Formats: sequence, structure tokens, C-alpha cells
Amino acid sequence: MIIGIIGSGAMGAGIAQVAATAGHTVHLLDQTAEALVRAEQGIQLSLNKLAEKGKLTAEAVGATMTNLQFTKDYQDFAGCELVLEAIVEDLATKQQVFKQVESVVSAECVLASNTSSLLITSLAAACQRPERFIGIHFFNPAPLMQLVEVIPAVQTRLGLTDEIKQLMQQWGKLPVLAQDTPGFIVNRVARLFYGEAIRMLEEGLADAATIDWAMTELGGFRMGPFALMDFIGHDVNYRVTESVFTAFFYDPRYKPSFTQKRLFEAGYLGRKSGRGFYDYREGATPPEP
Ligand code: NAI
Repeated sequence: MIIGIIGSGAMGAGIAQVAATAGHTVHLLDQTAEALVRAEQGIQLSLNKLAEKGKLTAEAVGATMTNLQFTKDYQDFAGCELVLEAIVEDLATKQQVFKQVESVVSAECVLASNTSSLLITSLAAACQRPERFIGIHFFNPAPLMQLVEVIPAVQTRLGLTDEIKQLMQQWGKLPVLAQDTPGFIVNRVARLFYGEAIRMLEEGLADAATIDWAMTELGGFRMGPFALMDFIGHDVNYRVTESVFTAFFYDPRYKPSFTQKRLFEAGYLGRKSGRGFYDYREGATPPEP
């Protein structure tokens, strides 16, 4: 199966790595050459680490890299049977991208989005053939996280959900069926996890490190809410909260915070920019991953 992936950021690169490791030819597309170079280097690094840990052979690392093609040209998607999008969390931009994809691919090619919060039905509605549209939502980092939410749109043809669940199993993932509601399963629950933690910080009840410590040491979570938001990125995390809040018709349970909006607008995006709730710049002591 030939696969196209749009967006070579954290998620797109991770998903491309997973698909290429599973033996597919993967065309990974981004709008800038810099993003593609970063993705290629990141995937190589990630594969090397897996090889060091004995989870992949050197041959498998080589074969995976050979399966990957990096491109800026939608024409390369012509032979794809599945095209999955992992670009910026913005409905209009994503809809525009699928229009471009549909002008290139065959009528049978499945279209999928990795959106965290937008309705799959809204994305499908902008397509000429909405019945071949589905949500496939991975978690970060995609090569390590096993859970994948599979979300049929209202328009999705019968049978496609099962086909995608089977494909995810072939990729070594644990697919779970989720309904097309804002945030699906995990991101809906997670909004309250992040939102309540930020509210406690704003109320001066405890600082970020204390809340993170309590949640990991006492609560048994692998990461605390602040370390996790810094890992995800405040651009991504803020937009997802805003989108879930809007999609739930402004239900105050999902209200975004000014604290995170300020971090986002200041460019303090977390690990990827060197600063977020914590300081990751040289000389600083960031929290344990
Ligand atoms: P990112 O910011 O790391 O990467 C986005 C990439 O898309 C960038 O390389 C950018 O150049 C590219 N891009 C943006 N607009 C484009 C366009 N019009 N055409 C082609 N490329 C374009 O973002 P990330 O974290 O990978 O998120 C991507 C998507 O995945 C979002 O929808 C997000 O909600 C979702 N997601 C994010 C997760 C996370 O933990 N970061 C987890 C699961 C889903």
C-alpha cells in the first residue's frame, strides 16, 4: 500500500515512520524544505534509538528510510491508497488541503485526518467523495504510543472503519472506535486534566512543578499536566482547547485559559521552542521527561 502523509511535524513524521516501518512506501509532504529536512533527521534519530534498544535491526532501519520519500509536490500522491493529514489544527486550512489531494488521487484512495479536535464530519463535508473520509487519531510520539482512535464521519462508507482498524493492528497499534464528537475520547478527558491544572496554578494553590510531582508520584500518571502541555506544544494544545470549547457550543467546562494563550502568543511553545511552563534552554534544569 502506498501512503501519503501531509505535514511533517511531530505527528506527521512519527506516523510516516510507523507506516514506513510496517513496509509501506510513504510520501511525506510539507510546505517547506526545512520542515522535510527536520523530519528526515528526526526519523533517522528515532529509528537509531529503537535499533540501539534492540527493537529494530539495522536492516529494518535501512529499509524504513528507503520506504520514505520526502516531497513538496502533491502530484507524488497520484498512486496513493491512503492519504492522511497532520497539518496545523485549522478547519479551513485542512479542508483546502483535502481539495488539493482529491484533485490528484484516485476515487478509491482513502482520506484521513489526524485532527485532535475538529469534527471528522466537517472535514468530510468539504470533500467531493466524503464516503471515503475517516479520522485516524494517533498520539505523540506516534512510534511509541500504541493507542489510535478511529473515528468514522457521518458520511463514512460502511466497512471502512473496520478496514482502518485492521490496518492499525498491522502497524502494531491498538485501535479504538471513537464517536465523532469534539476531542473524541482522550482529548475530551484531557481538556479537563490540563484546564483544571492551569486553574489551580492561576488560583495560586500550587506551582507547576508541585502539581506535576503530585500527579506523577502520587497519581501514577507518566507525565504531569504542565510537563505534558510543554511536550505537546502550546500552539497545538491551545488551539485544540479553543476548538473543543467552540465545538461544545462554549461549554465552560472546556474554556481555554489566558495563561496558555499568553504562552502561545509569546512563542513560549514548550520543549520545541525552549520555553513553556518550564525552561528548557541551555543551562536551565527542565523537568525529567
Ligand atoms: P506541528 O506544528 O509539529 O507540525 C505541523 C506541520 O504541518 C508543520 O511541519 C507545517 O509546516 C505543516 N503544515 C502546516 N500547514 C500546511 C499546509 N497547508 N500544507 C502542508 N504542510 C503544512 O504539529 P503536530 O503536533 O504534528 O500536529 C499536527 C496535527 O496533529 C494537528 O491537527 C494536531 O491537532 C494533531 N495532533 C497533535 C498531537 C500532538 O500531541 N502534538 C497529537 C495528536 C494529534
